[in-house]
Amino acid sequence: MYASVNGLNLFYEERSDHEPDPILFLHGFPLDHSMWRHQLDAFSMTHRCIAPDLRGHGSTTDIGETLQPGQVTIELMADDVAALLDHLRVQKITVCGLSMGGYVAFALWRRHPQRISRIVFADTKATADTVEARAARFQLAEQVKAGGSKVAADSMLPRLLAPENLDTAVELDVRRMIESTRPDHIVNTLHALASRPDSTGLLAHLSAPCMVVVGEKDIMTPKTDADLIYREAECAWRMVEIPRAGHLSPLENPDAFNAAVAEFLRA
Ligand code: MLT
Repeated sequence: MYASVNGLNLFYEERSDHEPDPILFLHGFPLDHSMWRHQLDAFSMTHRCIAPDLRGHGSTTDIGETLQPGQVTIELMADDVAALLDHLRVQKITVCGLSMGGYVAFALWRRHPQRISRIVFADTKATADTVEARAARFQLAEQVKAGGSKVAADSMLPRLLAPENLDTAVELDVRRMIESTRPDHIVNTLHALASRPDSTGLLAHLSAPCMVVVGEKDIMTPKTDADLIYREAECAWRMVEIPRAGHLSPLENPDAFNAAVAEFLRA
């Protein structure tokens, strides 16, 4: 379904709009809402579930006037999501954000804290990019401009998944998502990621209960990043390591991921 909000046509999947206690699933970069398919199947039995394609990803490609690198920001993505919640008449919601989706969750907390009832930080970090990480993003942006989205898939896939999940259907699925993201949107988002602010200082003021989930083999946002969120967040409930998973734990080990989140929702 599409919602015309915040100057763009935002695609989202919604399940079980009659169920209470809604959950908002925010995907990672450069993926789309379908990375949450196992969670949508499981949690829509008991919860209203909303999973948008963030600006420039999945089917949210009609983004109004074409913004240049530097004009797309993580904060803008958070405003898109808040506008979607207005459109759907959702007051407060549990936010489950993976990696870039976690950065958007931080931005939502900064800009629209009243909308958040709980947060699941999955395979994400609170810190901003280092100088080296920023330089690597700009280098990848140049490579994608020259060689297209396949370059992003080739470069990212070995770091996104645990070794045992490479060369499996999961890899094919993730490759499909990355290669169907437009190169100009990948470039714009790389700039947005590079310019995101540090959210570490926010953790002490986070009054919504949160949990931290990390794939045991996540090398993109490893356990040290998860530890920092867990240690500093005022209302952190638990940190859970997901076995046999890398950076995309909800896709790589959905049973363990769902069990951890279900326990948090019941707590
Ligand atoms: C993601 O999965 O969203 C990205 O790895 C985020 C990042 O590169 O910082």
